[in-house]
Amino acid sequence: MSVPSFLYSQLFIEPPVPNHDFTGQTVIITGGNRGIGLEAARHLLHLNAASVILAVRSPEKGKAAASELEASTGRTGVVSVYELDMESHVSVEKFAAEIRALDRVDAVILNAGMYTQFFELADGHERTMTTNVINTFLLAILLVPALKSSARKWNITPRVSFVASDRHVLVNLPEWKTQNTFETLDNKAKTNMNERYYTSKLLQILLARALADALDKQGGDDAGAGRVVVNSLTPGYCVSGLLNDAVGFHGFAFWLLAKAVARTTEVGGRVLVAAITKGKENHGMYLNDGEVQESALSPFVRSTEGSLAQAKVWRELVILLEQTCPGIREIVGTQGSLT
Ligand SMILES: NC(=O)c1ccc[n+]([C@@H]2O[C@H](COP(=O)([O-])OP(=O)(O)OC[C@H]3O[C@@H](n4cnc5c(N)ncnc54)[C@H](OP(=O)(O)O)[C@@H]3O)[C@@H](O)[C@H]2O)c1
Repeated sequence: MSVPSFLYSQLFIEPPVPNHDFTGQTVIITGGNRGIGLEAARHLLHLNAASVILAVRSPEKGKAAASELEASTGRTGVVSVYELDMESHVSVEKFAAEIRALDRVDAVILNAGMYTQFFELADGHERTMTTNVINTFLLAILLVPALKSSARKWNITPRVSFVASDRHVLVNLPEWKTQNTFETLDNKAKTNMNERYYTSKLLQILLARALADALDKQGGDDAGAGRVVVNSLTPGYCVSGLLNDAVGFHGFAFWLLAKAVARTTEVGGRVLVAAITKGKENHGMYLNDGEVQESALSPFVRSTEGSLAQAKVWRELVILLEQTCPGIREIVGTQGSLT
C-alpha cells in the first residue's frame, strides 16, 4: 500500500459499523482487554454473539474489561475471560486445550500484539517474534482441530483472522535468504529493532497465506479443513496503546500521525469484526478497510520472491513449532524440511 493510498484510507474511508448477525456464535479475541480488540468485542455483543471470549494475559484486566463491556452493552453472561500469555508457548498450549473442550467455536481474531524497539528474549526468541508471530501461529494451528470439528458438527464456516498491518509494506524480509530466517531474526547483532514490528506483520501476512494453502491441501468439506477460512487484515492506523513505548524519531512520527490521521479504536474494532463476516471467497486473502484488497499488499508479498519467501518461512515455522509442540506438523499436513 503506497503512502497516498494509506492516507486516502485514513482520511476518506470510514469502514461501516458492522451489521452481521452473530446469533449463536462463539468468537475468541486474543488481547481483547483493550484497544481495537476490546472494541471488536463490543461490536460482537451488539451483534448478538452468544459467547465472546477475551483471551488475555492479565485476568484482572480481562475481568475489568468484561464488566465494562457488560455495563455498556447491557449483555450479561456472554463475555468470558480466559488467561493467555502470548509470550509463553506453555500458556498457548493450555489455552488451546481449554478451547478444544468447548462445543463450538465460530471465529478467532488473533489480535494480541506488541511493538518495541528494544531487543529482549521471550520464550527463546526475540519478544516481538514470539508474541506477534511464533506463538500467534502456534495458537492458530492448535485451534484448527477445534475449528474443523465445529465445522463438521454445526455445519458452519469457522474463520481465523490475523490482525496484521498495512505497514508491512515498509520491509522486504531480507532475512528469508539466510539459512534459517527465525535464527537470523533472533540474532541481536544482525537485528534492526526499528523494523522489527513491520517484519512481524509481514511475516503474519505471509504465514496466514501459507496456512490457508496448507488447509486447502487437506481436502474437502468432509475433513472440516475445507470449511475453515483464514485471512489477514489491517485495521488502518488507530489510536491505541500499541505505540506508547515508541521512542526517538519513531515515537514522534507516530504521535504526529495519530494527531493527523488516526482512526478511533471503535472504527478499528469494526474492521476486525468485518474480517470474520467473510466466507470462503475470502480465504487466504488480505483485507483493507474491512474488504478484500489484495492490491494493498506490498509488491514484495505479491512477487515471485515473496512466494518463495512465504514457502520457506512456512516450512521453517512448522519445523520450529514441531520442536516445541510435537503434533503441529500433523495438524497442518506439511512435510517440510530445510534440507
Ligand atoms: N492501532 C493500530 O494503529 C494498529 C495498526 C495495525 C495493526 N494493529 C494491530 O492490532 C492489534 C491490537 O493492537 P491495538 O492497537 O489495539 O494495541 P493495544 O491497545 O496495545 O492492545 C494490544 C493488546 O494485545 C495484548 N497483548 C500484548 N502482548 C500480549 C501477550 N504477550 N499476551 C497476551 N496479550 C498480549 C495487550 O494486552 P495487555 O493489556 O495485557 O498489554 C492488549 O490487549 C495488534 O496486533 C497490532 O499490531 C494495530
